[in-house]
Amino acid sequence: MSDPEASTSESKPVVVYIVPTRIQKKRLKDIKSAARRKKLSVVESFCPKVTHIVSELDNRYKVARKLKIVDYSILKGIELLRLTWFTACIKKAEILPVEDEHRIPEPPPEAESAPPIESLPQITTTEWACQRATPLRHFNEIFCNALEVLQMKAEFIDSGQDHLRSLAFRRASCVLKSLPFMITNVKQVKGQKDIGGHSRQVIKEILAEGFATEVEETLKDPWFQKVKIFSTIFGVGPATAKIWVEQGVNTVAEALVKCERKNWMVQWGLAFHDDLKEQVQLIEAENLTAVIKAEAERILPGVIVTLTGGFRRGKSAGHDVDLLFSHPEEGKEVNFLPKLLTQLEQRSLILCGKLEKSSYGDRVLSRDYNTKGHMDHYEKWIGLMKLPKRFCHEKINPSEYRFLMSNNAPVRGIETCTADDYEPHSKKQRLCEGEPTPLSFATAPRTWIARRVDLVIAPYSMYHYALLGWTGSKQFNRDIRLYSQKTLNQKLTSHGLWNFEQNKKLPAASEEEIFQHLNLSYLKPSDRNC
Ligand code: CTP
Ligand code: MN
Ligand code: MN
Repeated sequence: MSDPEASTSESKPVVVYIVPTRIQKKRLKDIKSAARRKKLSVVESFCPKVTHIVSELDNRYKVARKLKIVDYSILKGIELLRLTWFTACIKKAEILPVEDEHRIPEPPPEAESAPPIESLPQITTTEWACQRATPLRHFNEIFCNALEVLQMKAEFIDSGQDHLRSLAFRRASCVLKSLPFMITNVKQVKGQKDIGGHSRQVIKEILAEGFATEVEETLKDPWFQKVKIFSTIFGVGPATAKIWVEQGVNTVAEALVKCERKNWMVQWGLAFHDDLKEQVQLIEAENLTAVIKAEAERILPGVIVTLTGGFRRGKSAGHDVDLLFSHPEEGKEVNFLPKLLTQLEQRSLILCGKLEKSSYGDRVLSRDYNTKGHMDHYEKWIGLMKLPKRFCHEKINPSEYRFLMSNNAPVRGIETCTADDYEPHSKKQRLCEGEPTPLSFATAPRTWIARRVDLVIAPYSMYHYALLGWTGSKQFNRDIRLYSQKTLNQKLTSHGLWNFEQNKKLPAASEEEIFQHLNLSYLKPSDRNC
């Protein structure tokens, strides 16, 4: 029963999943991008939305096994088709009727037998997320995306209070992210400590309907939409976002006019929101890192510059660029950041920002025994940089780039520059009456876009703890810190690990060593995507 329409018999929109097996990587990539160009919907992982599975495998059991499907009923209503069908669709830029010749056949009866249906893969998971790998791409995106909408909603509603409700959704999502198969039956999650009744209900509904009502309604809710947009503005958190919505602010443009008493971050954040709302792409982050690294190396030879945050975990885009600096010779990092900033300013790469001095002391490590505060005490700069538009589409060679910059010479007086001397031009401009406003910068013709950047300095003795903390994810940090406290009576932060039994800090010369201190198997950054 072939269906000539661009939808299945229940007239769901056509969503195609391509089984990557036996298709060359390059070819697969080309097919996917061609499909997207032709507006055909292809998803990256198999999920309940999928209506058509296409594959080069020669029988249906092989496909099912590849998808780790044991319960065949999940394939009911899904077409299993040869890749040739889909390439023909792409050629015609439309979904073509399915003929029998397109269908992947059953295996010959003697060759294979179907795996028994009663053996649904069961969840065997660890108590803590830091005890298992959580990859970026996984089999349960449709459930996790839904649960994380509810996490966000709870976070907005409870902002300022404790986050137990929102974190419950996140923990459930994290268990699903770490599974090597897709959930196909809600029975599989029953009895899972981290997957509570509410989350289970969401999973059940998605399995039955393809969506969860509460999630759909949340996404459509104007209050949710506004708080979500406002809380992505630089300098605005959910608490402020909620106040704005209560005051009747509807759009970012309105906030720009209406909202009083904006701090510097919010002023710049609003003015440059059109730039900042677009995700920073990996190539931009890599180019910026390369150029900053070249400048850093001139100021402090041997400096370590590491791109951390989501990019280090393998993400291809993110909301900002997180750079961690250190130097193998402890002490060399002192006064480096103001010098670097002065130099970057000279290169016209700084838009605005704030330099925070280090507030670290060993008391920080042993006292304040709570894992709630995620702020660390490193010297850091938080701000907006000007990313030349070229950085968005071509790989930049920093040595060539230097010639293109406004001034090639090192800045005079930089050798003696300290945090107290450093004051960005933009900051001065902001303070003077009659000087250009952030908005006038934003609306003037320009060859750059604004990007959020965090620059962090760690003394080398704390570097690997800083690296672990700044790599994240936020949820991974929450989990591993709570694990350390509850199971080991040790306090882990971005500054170090304090052992309360021995009343001393435990040094580490690598991230691996930190995992060893904590009795954990090492997880590479790409497995910390909780
Ligand atoms: N972090 C931190 N202290 C801060 C800010 C951030 O330790 N004051 C940590 C966060 O816990 C996170 C990492 O640094 O693990 C990066 O933070 P952030 O840029 O907010 O998150 P990303 O995971 O990089 O997300 P995105 O890709 O959207 O930038
Ligand atoms: Mn980041
Ligand atoms: Mn950041």
